[in-house]
Amino acid sequence: RMHALLNGFFELALAEVHRFEGTINQFLGDGFMALFGAPLAHEDDARRAVGAAVAIRRALRDRRSYGPGPGAELAVRIGLNTGVVVVGSIGDNLRMDYTAVGDTTNVAARLQQAAAPGEIVIAEATARLVRSDVRLAPAGALSVKGKSDPVIAYKVLGLAPRRSAFEHAAERAFGRFVGRDEELRRLGKLLTDAHAGAGRLVRVVGEAGAGKSRLLYELRRTLGATDMTTLEARCRAYGATIPYLPILDLVRGQCGIEEIDPPETIAAKVRSTLTGLGIDADDRTPFLLHLLGVKASGAALEDLAVEVVRERTVDTLGRMLLEGSRRRPLLVVIEDLHWIDDASEAHLGTLAARLEASPVLMVATHRPDWQPRWPNPASAEEIVLPPLGEADSLTLVQAVVARTSLPDELARVILDRASGNPLFLEELARAVAEQGDLAATRSMPDTLRALLSARMDRLPAAPKRLLQTTAVLGREFPRRLLETVWEGPGSVTAHLAELARLDFLHELSAGGDPAYAFNHALTQEVAYESLLTPQRHALHETAAQVLESSDAGRGAREWERLAYHWTRTARADKAVEALSRVAARAMATYANAEAVAALREAETHAARLTTDREPVTLRLVLERSQALLLLGQPQESLDDLRSRADLVERVGDASLTAQYHFRLASAHGVLGDSARAIEHADRALGEARRAGDGATEGKAEYILARESFWSGDLRRSVDHGRRAVVLLDRASERWWLATAHWSRALSYLVLGQFDDALDSATWAGTIADKLRDSRLASQAAWIRGWIHATRGDWATGIEAGRRALELAPDEMSRAVAEGFLGTCFIEKGDTAAALPLLEQATATLGRLRLRQLEGFFTVLQGLAHALRGDPERAAALAARGLEIVRGINFGPAIIEAHLVESLVARARHDLAAASRALGEALALAERIGARFLAAQMRLGLAEVAQAAGDREAVVRHLGPAHADLRALGAPVWAARAVTLARAAGLAL
Ligand SMILES: Nc1ncnc2c1ncn2[C@@H]1O[C@H](COP(=O)(O)OP(=O)(O)OP(=O)(O)O)[C@@H](O)[C@H]1O
Ligand SMILES: [Mg+2]
Repeated sequence: RMHALLNGFFELALAEVHRFEGTINQFLGDGFMALFGAPLAHEDDARRAVGAAVAIRRALRDRRSYGPGPGAELAVRIGLNTGVVVVGSIGDNLRMDYTAVGDTTNVAARLQQAAAPGEIVIAEATARLVRSDVRLAPAGALSVKGKSDPVIAYKVLGLAPRRSAFEHAAERAFGRFVGRDEELRRLGKLLTDAHAGAGRLVRVVGEAGAGKSRLLYELRRTLGATDMTTLEARCRAYGATIPYLPILDLVRGQCGIEEIDPPETIAAKVRSTLTGLGIDADDRTPFLLHLLGVKASGAALEDLAVEVVRERTVDTLGRMLLEGSRRRPLLVVIEDLHWIDDASEAHLGTLAARLEASPVLMVATHRPDWQPRWPNPASAEEIVLPPLGEADSLTLVQAVVARTSLPDELARVILDRASGNPLFLEELARAVAEQGDLAATRSMPDTLRALLSARMDRLPAAPKRLLQTTAVLGREFPRRLLETVWEGPGSVTAHLAELARLDFLHELSAGGDPAYAFNHALTQEVAYESLLTPQRHALHETAAQVLESSDAGRGAREWERLAYHWTRTARADKAVEALSRVAARAMATYANAEAVAALREAETHAARLTTDREPVTLRLVLERSQALLLLGQPQESLDDLRSRADLVERVGDASLTAQYHFRLASAHGVLGDSARAIEHADRALGEARRAGDGATEGKAEYILARESFWSGDLRRSVDHGRRAVVLLDRASERWWLATAHWSRALSYLVLGQFDDALDSATWAGTIADKLRDSRLASQAAWIRGWIHATRGDWATGIEAGRRALELAPDEMSRAVAEGFLGTCFIEKGDTAAALPLLEQATATLGRLRLRQLEGFFTVLQGLAHALRGDPERAAALAARGLEIVRGINFGPAIIEAHLVESLVARARHDLAAASRALGEALALAERIGARFLAAQMRLGLAEVAQAAGDREAVVRHLGPAHADLRALGAPVWAARAVTLARAAGLAL
């Protein structure tokens, strides 16, 4: 067994060593020695050695099956050193059987012995070579036999996340850093607090060029490689309509995903990151892949409701950061909030609030013309960057013009003009260094933008044009893309070198293709603005085409980036297509505000279309109305749709017309106007049938079922519900299908068909579970609870009601679940438990304008007060509730209100009034076909008659009541009828 175990281990370890181009030179019982760089040396031998070590460790963790049994697993101890080794081949040359001897291998062996199981310990010599690729922690100094100096050792924690902009920035030659002692001190203090678990969000505020990014760079430099993990996200200019851009940065950073990774690699990285953090990767990977725009194989997120996707994604991110910070404190840097999109902003607010009590420091930068909308006090901490003082300004200027000594007078002019803005100081100093005399300096532009633009104008034609071209491509861009797009004279490489020398750009060495970035955002903005419109169009078009053809090979399209380019060209069709895709993706991540914005923008481009302008526009309008509904803006949705009646007419397409009326019906329904909702749903139905559009037909049937229910036409509701279920099932519209089942359950319940109602509720619940949609699941649970309680089984009812409350994901669901749980408690007779629930539900639903249920729960509050013997309050509440539900004609609630009236009348010993109220309720129940309610009212009438000593009336009501209650399957209620019969001395 041990033998098999070891063999398994060797097999796996060898594969990794070979994958990283190492050679195994010696087996040592339960271990081995591997060499990297012998016989052939590569530049990155150390990096590959560490890579192999990490891979072996991970592979062992992943393959628990090699462990000798549960609870114990096989762990390796790895030591690594770098240096000269003496390699001898012992025996047969051809077998390349090396023995490496000497100091270097001795130290490696010593490090291996010092490592704890599962640890990789490396010597300082190796650490120096891999520092930028690996996360390290100091492991102390080890004494080695035969060596006088101790060996400084490091533990390998893992591979470093991809290189951040900070690290890129370090490659650019920065001038000397001046001032900002106070700011660094404050940030240092916040870091210490974060280490101690008091994390927070701090904003660094300053105008363009004030030195926000530089300050954070300096802060990071003070951190050792090992103190904290840093994650970095940036918002981009022109990026505000791309949802989740900075959030994506955070995910990519935490998972170590590179721009160039193919989808399989991304999926593998996400999975192993989640597993490493102890988060269920099977469950959560699909959400992150969805966010990253990678199509996950197997997982069907399309089935999930958008709310769920959003909720799970946010939750996953929060957990990743929390778990990550528990392993090592986190510094999260978010640059340039003034360009953030709405979805990310909301997201960050939530995340920040959630991370407050953990070792996470979030530092965000922005310019002063932007303010956060987060309500939480954690975002109140603010560090405002003041202008640099005279002395610091002078030092900075002198550092730039280092070669020439600057006459006082010139320095004076620069300092006055730049007024302490570091970028302005640098740029002016550079201009002076280039031009050199006082007169030229005096005539220099007096704003930073104008200055940058003047400096660009002084460039030779070709590099200037290249700079403008790069500005179209973005703040960062791969050289290959630039080469494809570039049509001007000369070599791209030479121009880039010149622009780098003049401090406009710098090269990024991210590994793989060379890429460049603007030194400063403002430089890019100014270069972009200097282009003439036709030039800009042409450049964007070329860029879009290049991107499209390179995307084609990779599968997933970057619609956001394409939209950015296409919308800036003359190709309206392409712009519309890309924006529609952006909107669809945004809706799928519940970024509905972005979806609305993208669709609005798409419409302005659609107006430029020469063919199909109107149908394309109509489709955009329909999509947008859905996004507006999901955003909670039904009135806007309605207004928007109504203003398009002419367009629908002119397009004259049956399916589109059907969808149009369905959307109108939805909006009216949500706004509580059942009559109009029914009118439009009928139209939608007709048109959908004509077009053979089953999905829309099914949705229209659902609306008709729902609205018929609210307006008291239960039989019609059941019919529509049945058709909706068939059509939606056939069209695989599962979310709508669950909703249709739910609405059928409601109707069956009021009709007194309890078994059918439970059946439908079960269907709704099953689909909800499959879709993992907690809102639907909560609905299914409360309807089940209500059915059981109504029937008399309040214990099961309360249980289901509690479940509904637990599942409820949002305010509205919670309020509805509370109301129905309260209803179950009334059935139990526990009014003390019922009342607070009902009160809370009523208040919330009133605020959310869900009139039907607000009225219903008000009436039920009255019922509770009547039952606990407070007829005055009962009467008042019933009256208030009745006023609400009468207006909208909600039958079941009106019946309950009459019931309360009768109880109040009995408490006042007015039996005639009690009987009248019940009579009214009975008539209404019979009219709408509510058999169970009718039977209950009859039972009530019999009780009143018994109290009044009217034996003939008792006989008249009690017989049918008892028969119905039994037939409908409500034994508890039938028993009550039997008790009454006994008291009255009647045989049933
Ligand atoms: N304290 C400082 N000492 C020396 N140089 C500085 C200092 N602060 C900023 N700089 C330099 O000034 C330039 C602009 O700084 P930085 O890019 O940090 O500005 P920013 O506030 O981030 O601007 P933006 O809002 O446009 O992003 C950089 O070249 C930076 O190196
Ligand atoms: Mg900056």
